[in-house]
Parts: sequence; structure tokens; C-alpha cells
Amino acid sequence: MSEGLIELRGVSLAYRTASGPLPVLDDLSISVPEGGFTAFVGPSGCGKSTLTRLIAGLTKPDRGEVRLHGEPVRGPRPVVGMAFQNPVLLEWRTILRNVLLPLEITRTALSKREQEARARRLLALVGLEGFEEKRPSELSGGMRQRASLCRALIHQPEILILDEPFGALDAFTREDLWKLMHELKAEEPFTGVLITHDLREAVFLADEVVVLSGRPAKVQRRVPSGAAGRRDIEHLYTAESVALLNLLRREIEIAQGRAPAGSRAA
Ligand SMILES: Nc1ncnc2c1ncn2[C@@H]1O[C@H](COP(=O)(O)OP(=O)(O)O)[C@@H](O)[C@H]1O
Ligand SMILES: [Mg+2]
Repeated sequence: MSEGLIELRGVSLAYRTASGPLPVLDDLSISVPEGGFTAFVGPSGCGKSTLTRLIAGLTKPDRGEVRLHGEPVRGPRPVVGMAFQNPVLLEWRTILRNVLLPLEITRTALSKREQEARARRLLALVGLEGFEEKRPSELSGGMRQRASLCRALIHQPEILILDEPFGALDAFTREDLWKLMHELKAEEPFTGVLITHDLREAVFLADEVVVLSGRPAKVQRRVPSGAAGRRDIEHLYTAESVALLNLLRREIEIAQGRAPAGSRAA
């Protein structure tokens, strides 16, 4: 059996809460191949962010195993970069210094000069040339998210985890960032894990969309989307994409308990 770069096997997890255990993930088995890009969609509160924390080594499963490159994950690893809906940039640092932050925490073979050159190159790649010395509050939401992507990629992580990274942006800015993600992946290859509520985003960015059931989350359905090499938003308006989006919509309704499993599209 060929192993994915990210491999979850029979992973279950329950949070201990004041009112007893809250089962969140139930026997999840997931594999993301090296260089792949998998999107996870599912009802609010079903356990998607928990899943990213497991992959990042920030949380441990109660049962089952999380492996990266065949090695069990036992704690946070620098091979993972993360970006969230709220970019959490530090206001007292310039954009350049924010992007460089992870290199102050993780080990790097790069000299200070090389680090800075890399940060500047990434910022140029995302269209932020000339903004290196600005403070986060001087940038728009879309620009802050671009900077946060640079920060997530600065240490050349093998895995990039995006937890609803574009959710707070307006529709056009979001589409710009989707296109940017394809460009970034071509320039800075990574294995992608995307959490999103936006089915179009999932279909545009990921090559596989995993629908998670309501809490506790199980893998309800895996849908290949063939996004590899895709660049144009126009693709989302083809009959093929519309059919895929409808199928995913119905799966979400089933996951939310709003539609019976019998109503599933083939
Ligand atoms: N540290 C925690 N302790 C207790 N409950 C938690 C904790 N983190 C998340 N939860 C609960 O677990 C469920 C799944 O959370 P989360 O993974 O953030 O879901 P999602 O990202 O899919 O919205 C939610 O009901 C949430 O309230
Ligand atoms: Mg979440």
C-alpha cells in the first residue's frame, strides 16, 4: 500500500468538557499524497479545526494514528505551515518582520541575509513588493492575508494547512487569492490541506474534496475534483464544475441532517 505524506488511520478524539466527553472525530482514515491538495468541508463544529490540529501535532488522538512521511506525529513539527481566517499579524512588527517570525522560532540553515531575501521574494510573489516596511494596520484584509501566507511558507514547510483562510474576505479578493494559491503552489511546492465552507473554493483549489459528516466527524464522501493545474475562475462555471458543486451541496445537506442519505447524487 502506498503511503500518503499525511496519513490518518482510525483517528478518534473526544474533548473532555464539564458536561462529559464530547466526541469530535470518529474513526477517521485519510490519506493526502505528497504534492496533493485536499479540501475538507463539513458542518460547523464537526471537528475540522481539530483535524488540522492533529495534523500539525498540536493535539493528540485518543485512538488511531497520525503519520507524516510514515512517522508517527508526536508533537508540533516545523514541516507544517498554517494560515487561518484571522491572519494574526503582530502590529508592532513590519510586514517583513512578521513574515520572518517563524524563522526566529524554527531552525533554519539560511543566513540572516538569505532569510530576508527569501521573505522579500515571497512578498513580491504575492504582490506585496513595496509594502515590506508597512505595519499590518496599513494593509487591507486581502493584503494581510497575503502576508500571512508568506509567513506560513517562509520556512518552506512541506505541508500547508489553511483553516478557512479566505472566509473574511470579499468575493473578488477571495478569487484573487485562490488564483494566487495556484501560483504559490507552482513556485513553492507543498502538500495542501484546506478547511473551507466555500464549496467553490474547495473545487477550485483542491484535487480532492472530503466531506465530513456532522459531529463526531466521519469521512462521509471523498470526491475527486481534478483541480491540478487549474488557473481560471471560468472553470467554476463549466457544466462539469456545476455538477460537482451540486453533488457537494447535497452531501453537506446530508451531513447537516437536512437531507436523507437516500437523496445522494451518484
Ligand atoms: N479545546 C476544546 N475543548 C472542548 N471542546 C472543544 C475544544 N475545541 C473545540 N471544541 C468543540 O469541538 C467541536 C469541534 O470543534 P472544531 O474542530 O473547532 O470544529 P470546526 O472547525 O469544524 O467548526 C465544537 O463543538 C467545539 O465547540
Ligand atoms: Mg474551525
